[in-house]
Order: sequence, then structure tokens, then C-alpha cells
Amino acid sequence: MKRQDVQERIISVYIHRFDPTSDKKPRAVLYELAVEQGMTVLDGLHRIKETQDPTLAFRFSCRMGVCGSCAMLINGKPMLACNTQILDVTDKALTVAPLPNFRVVRDLVPDLAPLFKKHVQVNPYIVRTDGHEMESPSGEFIQTPEELIKYLQFTYCIKCGACVAACPTAATDENYLGPMALAQAYRYIVDSRDDGFHSRKSVVGADKAVFNCHYAGECSAVCPKGVDPARAIQFMKRELVRDYLLMRRHTAPLKARALNDKSKEKKTPLPVPPYTVDR
Ligand code: SF4
Ligand code: FES
Repeated sequence: MKRQDVQERIISVYIHRFDPTSDKKPRAVLYELAVEQGMTVLDGLHRIKETQDPTLAFRFSCRMGVCGSCAMLINGKPMLACNTQILDVTDKALTVAPLPNFRVVRDLVPDLAPLFKKHVQVNPYIVRTDGHEMESPSGEFIQTPEELIKYLQFTYCIKCGACVAACPTAATDENYLGPMALAQAYRYIVDSRDDGFHSRKSVVGADKAVFNCHYAGECSAVCPKGVDPARAIQFMKRELVRDYLLMRRHTAPLKARALNDKSKEKKTPLPVPPYTVDR
């Protein structure tokens, strides 16, 4: 970008500060920040930390929207700080606070341990009864595009916690399993390689799980990866009701196909995307 295209301006940034070891309650601290086009909220926090207040604490890692570390409340909405350009959300004032519905470790750092603990409860991996196939596979598990599309969207989750921060049920009940864990349970249940519906049913169908979801839809509205956890939760309810009514069809999980068995493989040529640069 040419220098003359950069519109620099000074904005006010109100940052939630809280150190549980010394503060009785949180406070909002005002910083002035020179913002230019392309500057993300994470860049802004780094600039403030480097030039104004080295004690500011926030979490980040990849800086490219894939690790899920930098989710925070930006002008009242859970968003990824590294994936949000300041001038896209404001040209005057910015408020930055930690994700709600989590304990605050310090400043903008939430304690995500409960999120990961709930994730583990739903067995977020392929569950099969033929354990030998998992440990020593005899071949590949080849899925059709239709089988893949059933769960693909839900695999995009980066465990950032934004959905839980936006969820009204999670706000009123800390024991609610939450949209992230429930969406991940559904992701595996509809995977044709998986046979873990019954092992997960006691968790996702119990109290504080899918049937506590009121379908507010806020989780899907804020998800930075388009996962749509609210949709997964409604589909999960359907699976549980079908199971209760003995209407759920149990299909045996996909069998491994020997590596040299090409007989049934359909050769569908993949479209080659056009080059975006001159060659
Ligand atoms: S479902 Fe979306 S908002 Fe929730 S943890 Fe996954 S990526 Fe983040
Ligand atoms: S730093 Fe990794 S998602 Fe923002």
C-alpha cells in the first residue's frame, strides 16, 4: 500500500484491566492509539503494550485466525482480535474486554480450561469397536463426498470459545456443556467412520446438554469460522429423539479398504483452480 493511501487516525481504546492478585474489581483503562488501515485489534494491543503499558496481558499465537487463542469481546461482540481490523469496527472508540462466561485470569486472558474439559467429555475423536483397525489400520477409510459433507463444516472449529461467550444458556449455567463441545460431538456422530453414538449419548443427552439449548443462535452468529454450532445442536436433538423412538438407523461404521483395492474407487477428476498469478 502506498503511504498516501494510509489514513492514520487517533482513536480511544478502552481496555478491561484486572489482576485478581491485586485488584478488587475490574476497571476500564483508556489508551490513545494511532490507527492505520490494515491494523488489527491484535496489532493495536501489541502497539499499546510496546509503547504505553508493558503490563497489559492478552493471549495470541498464530496471528492468522487459526489457533483460536485471541478471541475477546471487541465492541461488545466476541471476535478474533487477529482477524478484526480496527477501522472495520470503529473510527472513534474501541472497547476490548475478555470473553464473558469464563473466569478472567488477567486483563484480556480468559480461563478456557472448562471449555477444553467439556470438549474432552464428548470423546472428540473417531470411536470404533474394532480397536485393532485404529491402532494398526489394514487400509484406508474412503468416504464419499456426501459422507464428507455431513460433518465437514463442523471440523472448521478452532476452539476459540467465542460461541460459548455469546451463549445465553452458558451465561446462566456454568455446567452447560456449551455449543463448542456439542457441535464437536455431532461432528463425530455423523462421521461414517465413527461408531460412538451410544458412548456419547449419556453425555450429550443428559441434563445440561443439548436439550438446554434454547436455540438463541448467537453462537452461530459470532463464530469466526462459520461452524454454525446451533445447527449441529438441533441436528443432535433430532438424533437423540430418533434414538429414543427407536427410529434411528444404526449403520455399521465404514470398513477399511485395503490399500491396493482400487476396484470400487470412482475416479472423479478434481477441478483445478485457475492460477492467480502470471506464470
Ligand atoms: S464453534 Fe466457532 S466460535 Fe465456537 S469454538 Fe468453534 S470456531 Fe470458535
Ligand atoms: S492469534 Fe491465532 S486465532 Fe488469533
